[in-house]
Amino acid sequence: MIHWRDNLSLIGFMGSGKSTVGPMVASMLGMFYVDLDEIIEKKAGSSVADIFDKHGETGFRKMESAALKKVLAGRGKVVSCGGGVILDKENVLTLRSLSVVFLLLVSEETARRRLQGCMKRPLLKGEWEDKVSRLYRERLDLYRRAAHFSLSAEEKSPVEVAEEIVNIWKNLWWK
Ligand code: S3P
Repeated sequence: MIHWRDNLSLIGFMGSGKSTVGPMVASMLGMFYVDLDEIIEKKAGSSVADIFDKHGETGFRKMESAALKKVLAGRGKVVSCGGGVILDKENVLTLRSLSVVFLLLVSEETARRRLQGCMKRPLLKGEWEDKVSRLYRERLDLYRRAAHFSLSAEEKSPVEVAEEIVNIWKNLWWK
């Protein structure tokens, strides 16, 4: 049976740095890195944006839930999840029971700054500034409740964030 300490997941808003920090954490811990969006894209044979176009957000979320279950059915993985993974209660149960869940926190301001001009995120098409604010406010509490550990990803380099995660992870094993 898979134990929650067998895997490590990163959650957080778009632009919080999951995909930059994730590979660093994996290499520091000698674990296998998985980007959930990449797994979904490979399986579908198209980009996240195209999946949203063809199958809508609902179609994408179904693929996301299936991919998450599959990835966390194994051990020794560091998984960067798409920002919306916490919208589904079952995903949250999967994440919390099969991995240690780390939330990378950035302020709404920082999220807005980092996402400016981002073309590849389908949810931010059009009035993106309003959308960032709305999604950020709708989700903040969901992120906090899904995470075992929350850390600020502001005013720190990605390496510093990765080291912080690795320290927390290592401490779990001493207990
Ligand atoms: C999404 C975030 C994206 C991607 C999809 C939906 C979201 O991933 O999964 O565009 O709902 O926040 P990133 O958080 O890596 O940008």
